[in-house]
Amino acid sequence: ARVHYHKWKISYQNWSPDCMQVTIISINGQYPGPTIKAREGDTVVVEIDNQMPTENVVIHWHGIRQIETPWSDGTASMSQCAIQPSTTYIYRYAADRPGTYFYHGHYGLQRSAGFYGSLIVDSAETEPFVYDGELSIILNDWWHTSTYQQAAGLLSNPFVWVGEPQSLLIEGRGKYNCSAGSSTTCNVTSNQCLPHILPVKPGKTYRLRIASVASLSSLNFLIQGHKMTVVEADGHYVEPVEVENLDVYSGESYSVLIRADQDSSKNYWAAVNVRGRKPITPTGLAVLNYLPNPSTNLPTKPPPPSPVWNDYAYSKTLAKKFLALAGHEEPPPMKPTRQLILLNTQNKINGFIKWAINNISLVPPPTPYLAAMKYKIHGAYDTTPPPDAYHPRDYNITIPPINPNAVEGSGVYVFELNSVVDVILQNANTLTKNSSEIHPWHLHGHDFWILGFGEGVFDPLKDPKKYNLVNPPLRNTVPLFPYGWTALRFKADNPGVWAFHCHLEAHFFMGMGVMFAEGIHKVGRLPRSAMGCGLVLNKMMHH
Ligand code: C2O
Ligand code: CU
Repeated sequence: ARVHYHKWKISYQNWSPDCMQVTIISINGQYPGPTIKAREGDTVVVEIDNQMPTENVVIHWHGIRQIETPWSDGTASMSQCAIQPSTTYIYRYAADRPGTYFYHGHYGLQRSAGFYGSLIVDSAETEPFVYDGELSIILNDWWHTSTYQQAAGLLSNPFVWVGEPQSLLIEGRGKYNCSAGSSTTCNVTSNQCLPHILPVKPGKTYRLRIASVASLSSLNFLIQGHKMTVVEADGHYVEPVEVENLDVYSGESYSVLIRADQDSSKNYWAAVNVRGRKPITPTGLAVLNYLPNPSTNLPTKPPPPSPVWNDYAYSKTLAKKFLALAGHEEPPPMKPTRQLILLNTQNKINGFIKWAINNISLVPPPTPYLAAMKYKIHGAYDTTPPPDAYHPRDYNITIPPINPNAVEGSGVYVFELNSVVDVILQNANTLTKNSSEIHPWHLHGHDFWILGFGEGVFDPLKDPKKYNLVNPPLRNTVPLFPYGWTALRFKADNPGVWAFHCHLEAHFFMGMGVMFAEGIHKVGRLPRSAMGCGLVLNKMMHH
């Protein structure tokens, strides 16, 4: 096993991802950030040097479970103190399982500022499918409004919403119609907004790795004239599913196989569209470039459309098609030891709009949970755990909340080490009539089995009987559909403190998440640099 050492300088850069110049957060002057490549069993070491003069930083390694290294999870206020300007922090963790992963900032809205990149772990064994070459892309939605202005809007009363994205990016590249505005900072000739190129040789099969770090949008990806066979999802093999287009929710990753078997004198569009919100954002485009055609030969026909944005039935059917590949994945335990029912609501706190889970909007405390729990620091967070289910049980999910008020909280769901936890995410109407949104939920530190999706209110007596306990897929991210529920199961077998949250950047920022913890007594000694803030400082001085 090898050690992959990276040294990253984090700094502001002016960049034109869709031809409009904005300020982004870059790594070593690059956007998207450098790709981390490792082989199963290797160790990854990344030394972060925060060269942004005005803000802290952390990096989360999305999909990596951080077994025995919970302090490397990269969540500000949770696993560590954020890395201050002009200081460094070293992340060290095992690339313990092959798969398609990525990393991104996990402080404020930094992910939305372009702070992300790919993390790919190759298998040490023969894989259950073959291919001649591999390509990888990250999908994203993009705004011209700075993330600082967006954050200020989210925290204002009256609430200021940034609106739909200006562009959709494939591997950090899109195209904004500059003539629409009169801005001098829009430059159609910038190399930075040339479409991303996916080079293929005629007749060959490629593994295309696709992930989404979108801030808001659920996305649909397709390639003109080519079907895709989905073979991996979030680092786990799935029974092959052939699709013409693929929904990718923020926080998800997939591997699809594509065969370059079309007319090789042409190039083809790879395209991405918005789902689940009325799209006003144009299609994002990349080029599937059949070699040796020049990559500048753009396809003459427009790309085929994605399914209609509000065809939720299509998305649900597709989501249910992904199943664990027989003989490759562990089946779930038959019974849970504990069940949580988490109601997802949009609420108000002192007139400010928030998101809440079982009526509590998460406000992470200044002292990181991991240090606070391990060193039993008094007063660092709410020691009263949040409720396991919502009350009253006759809550009407089909209308805006009758009492819109929620409360702030920082409590933790603490699980017995190695217990089996079921979580039922229950969706509801937002503060607006006839509105319920898609929420892609992501769990840190674990994978979970998706046991089922359902419509309306979850019935704790009847619905568990319909769970898939035979071949449910193992994932780290799952969509919760409007007015429905999603059930998942995981083993609380990874000592540490872990966030479980909606992966939409604004939703998490507005409190849409919960904290899980287990086996804190088994957590090893935290690096000093993970503790230099909040109440931990005191504690350290008295040691
Ligand atoms: Cu990719 Cu906590 O997120
Ligand atoms: Cu959400």
